[in-house]
Amino acid sequence: MRVSVTLLQYEHGIIRQVIDVLGEMVKHNSMKKHQGQMKHIVKFLDEYLDRYHHGKEEKLLFPMAAKRSKELVPEIAKLVSEHTEARASIAKMKTMITTDSAYADGSLAAVSKQLVDSMIRHIRHEEDVVYPKTEEALSLDDDLKLIKKYEVFNAPFGPDFARLGEEFGVKLQDDVLGPGFFSGIN
Ligand SMILES: [Fe+2]
Ligand SMILES: [Fe+2]
Repeated sequence: MRVSVTLLQYEHGIIRQVIDVLGEMVKHNSMKKHQGQMKHIVKFLDEYLDRYHHGKEEKLLFPMAAKRSKELVPEIAKLVSEHTEARASIAKMKTMITTDSAYADGSLAAVSKQLVDSMIRHIRHEEDVVYPKTEEALSLDDDLKLIKKYEVFNAPFGPDFARLGEEFGVKLQDDVLGPGFFSGIN
C-alpha cells in the first residue's frame, strides 16, 4: 500500500458520488428541475475534479510513476488526454448551465452524459490498472515525498476544501435523489 495512492482513491469516492448523481439526472431527464444544483455540480467538477484531483495526478503522482515505470508512460499519456477532454466538457457545461435552451434541447444532458461515462471508465481504469502498477513502482521514500508535495499542492485550496467537497457529495445525493438512495451500493 502507498498512502499517496490511497489518498487519491479516497478522492475518487467523493467524485463518484457527484458523477453518479449527475448520471441519474441525465437518465431521468431531471436537470431542469435541479437547475439550482447544476451550478454547484459544475463548480465541484471544475475545482475538485479538474484542478484538485486531476491536478495532483498530472503534476505529482503521474510524473513520479512514469519515472519509476516505463510501462506506465503510454497509460499515463492516455489518462492525461482524458483529463483534457473532461476539462473541455466542464468548460462547455459552465456556459450551458446558464442557458435555458441547453436544458430544453438536450445539449447539456449530452455533454454531461459524455463526461459521466468517460469519467466512470477513467476512474475504473485508474483503480484497476494504473494505481496498482503505480503502487508497485513507488518506493516508500517516493511515497513520503509525494505526500509532502500533496500538502503543498492542497494548501491554496484552503484547509476546509476536502471536507467541503465530501459534504457536498453527501448533501447533493440527499437533495437530488432522496436520503439514503445509494446506501448499500459501493
Ligand atoms: Fe485521472
Ligand atoms: Fe483519478
